[in-house]
Parts: sequence; C-alpha cells; structure tokens
Amino acid sequence: MARRSIYLLLLAFAAPYLYDRYLAFSVILSNRPAAFQRKYNIKSHEVKFPTRIRNCEDVVLDEGMGLAILSCDPGRDKWNTVMGTFYPERLTENGGIYLYDYANPGLPDEEALKRITLKNFETDDFHPLGIEYEADTSTLYVVNHAQSGSVIEIFSLAPTAATATHIRTLKHPLIHTPNSIHALGDGKIFFTNDHFMRAAVSPLLSKIETFAGIPGGSIVYLDINKPDTAKTVARLPFANGIAMLNSTWLAVASSSKAGVYFFEVTPEYDLKSKGYIRTPSGVDNLSVDSKGKLVMAGHPFAPALMKISKDRANCVHESENEEERKACECGAPSWAAEWSSDGGIKEFYKGFHFCSSSMAVRDVSRGIGMVSGLYDKGLMVFRV
Ligand SMILES: *[C@@H]1O[C@H](CO)[C@@H](O)[C@H](O)[C@H]1NC(C)=O
Ligand SMILES: *[C@@H]1O[C@H](CO)[C@@H](O)[C@H](O)[C@H]1NC(C)=O
Repeated sequence: MARRSIYLLLLAFAAPYLYDRYLAFSVILSNRPAAFQRKYNIKSHEVKFPTRIRNCEDVVLDEGMGLAILSCDPGRDKWNTVMGTFYPERLTENGGIYLYDYANPGLPDEEALKRITLKNFETDDFHPLGIEYEADTSTLYVVNHAQSGSVIEIFSLAPTAATATHIRTLKHPLIHTPNSIHALGDGKIFFTNDHFMRAAVSPLLSKIETFAGIPGGSIVYLDINKPDTAKTVARLPFANGIAMLNSTWLAVASSSKAGVYFFEVTPEYDLKSKGYIRTPSGVDNLSVDSKGKLVMAGHPFAPALMKISKDRANCVHESENEEERKACECGAPSWAAEWSSDGGIKEFYKGFHFCSSSMAVRDVSRGIGMVSGLYDKGLMVFRV
C-alpha cells in the first residue's frame, strides 16, 4: 500500500508536467504530413533571390529607410550549434549580412539585394544567427556562432554604403548559447540563450533538454558599457526569439514549450512574469509590427526540421551523386501567425511554398512582409 501511494503521489506531482508535454507533442502530431492543414491568408507571395542567399535565419526591418537586414549562413549545413550539427572539416562557407531595399519594387534584383561589406573584421569564422539593429545609433548586433565559441559581434552600419564596421566582440560567461537579441537603446540589450546544455558538449543531453521541456534556456540583461553588471533575468525551455511588445512588455518565444512567454520589464531591467500563450506550432523568432501586433514564425513539424539538419551534413550542391544532392533538399513546412491581446492568435501562413520558416516581419504601412528560411534558398516576400 505504501508503495502504491508513493506512485500516486509521484503521479500527482508529474501530472501537470506530463500534461504539458502531451500538449507540446500534440502540436507536432496535429501537424504531421497526413493531418497538415494549409493556411494562406496573405494576398500573394514570391521567393526572391534564390540563387544569391540561403539559410537565412533572421530579418530585421528599418521601416524608416525601407530596408531589411538579413542574416544568412550557408555554413549552417555543416555547423549548427543549436541543432547539433558539427562538421568543421566540411565547413567551407562563411555567413553574410545582406541589405534588401524592399521599398523600391522597381529596382533590379542585383541592386535591391546587397551583401554588406564587413570592415575591420578579418575572419573565416563568421556564422551569424540572430541580429538586431538600433537605427538611432546605427548599431548592428550579431550573434556569431563561431567555431571558436559563440559571441556577440557589434558593428556600426552605414546602410547607404552597404558597409558595417566592426567595433568589438562581446564575450561573457552569460553569453552561453546566444540566440536572439533585443536592443533597448544606449548599449543595453536583452538576449536569449536557447539551452543550458550546449549541443557542442552533448548533442544527446541537449535534445533531451529540448524534448523534456526543461527550462534550461535563459534571458539575460546586459549593458555593453558595463558587462560585469549582466544578469540572468528569467529561465525558460528553449528560449528563442525576443521582442518588446510595447514600452513595458517583453515577449519571448519558447520553441519546445510551443508558446510565447510575456514579462513586464521593471526599471531595473528585471522581469515579472505575465503568463504565456500556447501556439499551434513551435515558435522560432518574433517581431512586432507598427500596429503593435506580435508576428511569429516557426516550425509546425519539428521532426522534418531535425531531419534536414541531419541530412545537410552530407549535402553537396550539384553533385554527381544523387544521395549528396538529395541531402540538400528542404521539406519542412513553414508557419507564420500574429497575436494581439484582443485578437488572439491568427495564423496567416502555413504551407510548403517556402521551407523551414524562422522569422516573419511585416511593414504594415507598405503592405509587405517577409519570411526567412533557416534552410531554404532566398527570402519569401509576401503582400498583406
Ligand atoms: C529575432 O528577431 C529579433 C528582432 O525582432 C532579433 O533581434 C533577434 O536577434 C532575432 N533572433 C534570431 C535568432 O533570429
Ligand atoms: C503592453 O501590452 C500588454 C498586452 O497587450 C498590455 O496589457 C499592456 O497594458 C501594454 N502596456 C503598455 C504600456 O502599452
């Protein structure tokens, strides 16, 4: 009898946890290929620049100038510190930062998209992930998953010249598994670490952390002028995209919980929990449009994404060998949705026109939006 009550007690403690995991897995299950339901609540779309860019993880908009800044890394095929792909000996390509002038539809493609020249920055170890742009000070923050260790690179961007001058490399014990950055101005940032267990240390434990929903990810506050005052302000499972919803509320995506956490930011940059919402897809990155709506992109069916990250290690474009060519394919669905406190969640895209969506942004006044694809070629540009 004693043993039985211990089991019951354990079950009672575990029940909320098991239910939570059940909900997370049912999101994946309901998006399995046989049950997948497409959504197309956009006017039209087009995949631009497929021959010039691929594996773009992040897009940030400077709506004032009508420019999008993209972070793309073909090297992700062989080197992905989040998903645990490590083939440094096959790594031949560096990542790059691009500028897309989306406000002038008349421009020829070669002029509309420019690769930014990085000045004062000699490296063959550049693997950009999340980026953030502070327009007032022209500061560009870039999470660099360098082989020598993950850091945050800081550049000064000159958009008209399409150059970015490197200012400094930020290393810090709290920059552990950096993913996304949100700039608060004046050198102050919030950023997320996606995992406690780095895939570089143990790919298996890192995956267990993901699937068990262990809150090993974190949100860190850091002032680049006073790095020693940096602090961890919250922990959550697989912390990913981060964006301020308005002047006081912070939204942070959790890719493994399948949801978004909300916090109120105190004057000391501490966080007070304001609850969370579940999403019908794993959420990758977040942005906020000029109407104050949260725009999300993510991965409805995580197993497809994991398969790509595994296959890509063997991908050789235009290879004679069919297997090597097949390893370059991209079949993971994309998903984009918006959220507001009065409107709730509205999915506006779900489908296969574009693969492995990681970020969605929207310029409401120009009626244009973009979705980036972690493992796809080009950029999906849509009309709203
Ligand atoms: C996600 O988007 C935000 C802008 O909303 C950006 O600052 C951040 O670095 C991005 N992260 C990734 C991993 O793309
Ligand atoms: C920020 O957004 C939240 C959620 O919509 C809302 O409850 C809060 O009042 C907003 N705060 C401000 C200062 O607008």
